[in-house]
Amino acid sequence: MKESKKISKNKDTQEFENFEWIVKPLLHWYKMQARKLPWRINQDPYRVWVSEIMLQQTRVEAVISYYNRFMKSFPTIQYLAEAKEEEVLKLWEGLGYYSRARNLKKAAQIICDQYEGKFPDNYKEILALPGIGKYTAGAISSIAFGLPRAAVDGNVLRVVTRLNEIAADITDEKFRRQIGESLERIYPENYCSDFTQSLMELGAMVCLPNGAPKCKECPLRKGCLARKNNTWNEYPLKIEKAKRKIVDMTVLILHCQEKIAVRQRPQKGLLAGMWEFPNIDCIMNQQQICQWLNQKNICVSDIKKRKNATHVFTHLEWKMHCYDVECEQKNKIYQWVSPDDLNKKIPIPTAFRKCL
Ligand code: ADE
Ligand code: SF4
Repeated sequence: MKESKKISKNKDTQEFENFEWIVKPLLHWYKMQARKLPWRINQDPYRVWVSEIMLQQTRVEAVISYYNRFMKSFPTIQYLAEAKEEEVLKLWEGLGYYSRARNLKKAAQIICDQYEGKFPDNYKEILALPGIGKYTAGAISSIAFGLPRAAVDGNVLRVVTRLNEIAADITDEKFRRQIGESLERIYPENYCSDFTQSLMELGAMVCLPNGAPKCKECPLRKGCLARKNNTWNEYPLKIEKAKRKIVDMTVLILHCQEKIAVRQRPQKGLLAGMWEFPNIDCIMNQQQICQWLNQKNICVSDIKKRKNATHVFTHLEWKMHCYDVECEQKNKIYQWVSPDDLNKKIPIPTAFRKCL
């Protein structure tokens, strides 16, 4: 079911339509300079897919070891579809944004049920899978299937806005779509995979986000307006972001007879379904903590303050006020687990590991 795509011209995008010249130098540079990364060994759509999901919110260097471990545990879509969710989450521990792991498993099951275990080979069906948005669908379509589909992420937007000195808001969905369409008009037949990756690679290695881009090493320097006019610092436009909300929490590490109390978070919302230490959404003093635990049938024999910990999410920041609490009995509200199980079996998000 290969797709054939009609390419229509759109008036709004005509100003950066004449940049077909970037194709050859970019492909040549990519061939010579591309990093050897584990997901570039072949174009297996499963491998490409997992890498793109991991790379959505995480840096390449941080992803590599997770990726290799994941591929060892789940070498094919079938293995992933049949895995226990907890097992997948455990391998994901530390990468964050855990819904990515859940959706990965869900999509693997759909591929096994509806596509006989073969990854769908066209943009529309790829986009319909859980956890796959336009960017990832474009990346998989082009990298794994050689289709002329763009994958517009922050790297690509930075390169394109600098090249053409485009003063647009890169968070604007309409603008992103236009850039995608402009790029798709110049996708080189037979080199769609390399072209997508060359744009990403240039953004990651040369046209850098923080600090000066390495224009001297850039294969596109000759036609780049930002380089010509020394305006790279102005692109992409910096749009003021809303401030993150800070949430104070009290986090309790409850100990009783060599066991530690954990509980599962609700199935909806932030860190859905992950495990955590009992915590309260406010600052409490030691007396308040003892009372709170009394209501849960726990008598406290000792309580000690630990160092505070913080964790930054996209839209909020937790300030965690942490305590070690020796308890005289275990209650039934929590699961009481050994330190070994805590480390090896229970998926505790990094935010809470920071309390230890
Ligand atoms: N970032 C997102 N996708 C990537 C890829 N395939 N290679 C390197 N960095 C990436
Ligand atoms: Fe980026 Fe410089 Fe290359 Fe322009 S010349 S695309 S600013 S690295």
